[in-house]
Amino acid sequence: MASGGGSNLQSIIDSVEAGQIPDSEVVLVASDKRDAFALERAKKHGIKSLFVDPKEYGSRDEYDKELASRLKQAKVDLVLLAGYMRIVSAGFVKAFPNRIMNIHPALLPSFPGIDAQQQAFDYGVKVSGCTVHFVDEEVDHGPIIIQSAVEITEDDSRDTLAKRILDEEHRIYPLAVKWYAEGRLKVTGRRVKVR
Ligand code: GRF
Repeated sequence: MASGGGSNLQSIIDSVEAGQIPDSEVVLVASDKRDAFALERAKKHGIKSLFVDPKEYGSRDEYDKELASRLKQAKVDLVLLAGYMRIVSAGFVKAFPNRIMNIHPALLPSFPGIDAQQQAFDYGVKVSGCTVHFVDEEVDHGPIIIQSAVEITEDDSRDTLAKRILDEEHRIYPLAVKWYAEGRLKVTGRRVKVR
């Protein structure tokens, strides 16, 4: 599920196509934005794309119910949020327990929410990075699967930092999905063991 450019989606598609993620297929790309470039990327790779217009639903719960049922129809096993800018409802999380991942451009629990790269830059931290985690009912909060640290230098701007973080995102998101596909992730409370 993506709302924007979909470069993380692309990294997943590329890894699947290169055979790096066993027994996997990207079956559907869904978006809440009609013009999300992520949908174009899906089409280019022969992947079904789906736009569901939030304006046509009275509440977040109704919207997510529809989305969950479309995903189930497509036989989705693992849901990946990749720059998906809507908060998912508790009902949606329940429909896919420990089967929704998100990528966040900071080392959680630092800098949750919007523009984490700017937040980290403004705070003056010397190290930031990115996090792949399972999604629970709270925003940017669920059990952490993998993180990668990125150093912030004195020459950095928000954008140069964001670029280096994004490069790491493209490395660790496919890796987390690969571990999932290999059945190696075991979640106990907040802890995720990689077997
Ligand atoms: C990434 O920085 C991701 O961490 C955040 O949204 C951005 C999406 O980028 N959740 P893209 O659409 O995958 O290029």
